[in-house]
Amino acid sequence: MASAKICCIGAGYVGGPTCSVIAKMCPHVTVTIVDINDKRIAAWNSDELPIYEPQLDDIVKSQRGKNLFFSTDIDKEINDADFIFISVNTPTKTYGVGKGMAADLKYVEACARRIAAVAKSDKIVIEKSTVPVKAAASIQRILSSNMNLDINFQVLSNPEFLAEGTAIQDLIHPDRVLIGGEDSEAGRAAIQKLVDVYANWVPREKIITMNTWSSELSKLAANAFLAQRISSINAMSAVCEATGADVNEVARAIGMDSRIGDKFLKASVGFGGSCFQKDVLNLVYLCECLNLPKVAQYWQQVIEINNYQRKRFASGIIGCLFNTVAGKRITIFGFAFKKDTGDTRESSSIYVAKYLLDEGAKLSICDPKVSRRQIVSDLSHPTIASEETVAELVTTETDPYKACKESHAIAVCTEWDAFKTLDYKRIFDCMLKPAFIFDGRGILDHAELTSIGFQVEAIGKTVSQGTVFTHNNGNNILSPTSRVLP
Ligand code: NAI
Repeated sequence: MASAKICCIGAGYVGGPTCSVIAKMCPHVTVTIVDINDKRIAAWNSDELPIYEPQLDDIVKSQRGKNLFFSTDIDKEINDADFIFISVNTPTKTYGVGKGMAADLKYVEACARRIAAVAKSDKIVIEKSTVPVKAAASIQRILSSNMNLDINFQVLSNPEFLAEGTAIQDLIHPDRVLIGGEDSEAGRAAIQKLVDVYANWVPREKIITMNTWSSELSKLAANAFLAQRISSINAMSAVCEATGADVNEVARAIGMDSRIGDKFLKASVGFGGSCFQKDVLNLVYLCECLNLPKVAQYWQQVIEINNYQRKRFASGIIGCLFNTVAGKRITIFGFAFKKDTGDTRESSSIYVAKYLLDEGAKLSICDPKVSRRQIVSDLSHPTIASEETVAELVTTETDPYKACKESHAIAVCTEWDAFKTLDYKRIFDCMLKPAFIFDGRGILDHAELTSIGFQVEAIGKTVSQGTVFTHNNGNNILSPTSRVLP
């Protein structure tokens, strides 16, 4: 593999970090990341990368111009490459059959068609995007339409398991690398070539190979299991609030059981990100298409609980603020879907903000990495709030102290470390009283906040007494009958 060439189509959260790390770990491999979005490519070639990810800057800056390139000349790079990674977006369909459930494969298909149209030599085409089972067969079919019968295309499935916020470490030290391919001589040879790339830095026993369909399904299964764990602990948090149990204690107790394990047991305001909901819905749709309705319903419930948790949190805020938030200023700490990323896709903050805006609250939103432009754009979506509502009710602040000035309440929606170490006495002094904190991530020191004078409410445990946060049914949030007069 002395001078292998990789072309990665899609310079997003997956394509960018994944192929930057390949370039870093394989100095003898030339990696070019291409995209139709010229602004994104220009940003990758600038000092201000288009995505924030710890350590990414250093890697890109050390490899760029040596064996790592960013380009919009897609056809040329397809032609030059031995390996082509397809890392484009596969969002939930917003139209037609499967609307709101199925993955939209139009971008993947466009890549396959482009490769078929321009390739003049053998290629190994790698599905990096998350796709439904059997997508590789469609890609293979499209590639086969290339008129040059001498060209051999092999399609491999190589799903990505990185988590945003820890992407670089996940890529350098993966739990496993998964490669699926065709069980034929050419298929096995292609698998081996990709294994050889990863074997430059990943221990061989962590590179697992299997048939294409198992590999494609494993990615959906992994995200479904991860999302299910979050919904399980969140479902338990509601039981804790209703009983006086503490979800952190329950998580600790069950997590010490080696059969269960202690990861992903943190109760919260719900999962976000571009993948979990999309991939679970994709799985649900797949099950429905396979005439497995009970299995579909089982996984659908993971999404239902997530939506319930977001609503329950917002409902708790409204209940505690004496059943009306109209005209009240509420500070939202965190807009990214998790800490250490600027990505807001499907962030729970968006939904909490929506429910509060629906009730007429004024929001002051503060996030260390998300721009005002992004916040306004996310909230101005037709399913969230009108542009007029956002203009009238939403302000953004980079300084958390200014964000809290004259607020009635703070809602912590993202677990940024920066929120843990603020001077909460100073914040308390500039807020309206009673001053509330709703800790949707369980990151703050509740005893200290209570001693300062805050009314503290946290998911899955009772901190301050005498409020209506507990026993709250999120389903009733928008129902007038759920109102209780103070
Ligand atoms: P993204 O939206 O950040 O990036 C996708 C890029 O592909 C965009 O820049 C877009 O302009 C480009 N693109 C679309 N069609 C194109 C075409 N025909 N030619 C050239 N470029 C094109 O998406 P992200 O987050 O990187 O996700 C990519 C895939 O990886 C998705 O299938 C996702 O489910 C999967 N994935 C995402 C993870 C994440 O943490 N974001 C983790 C693991 C998998």
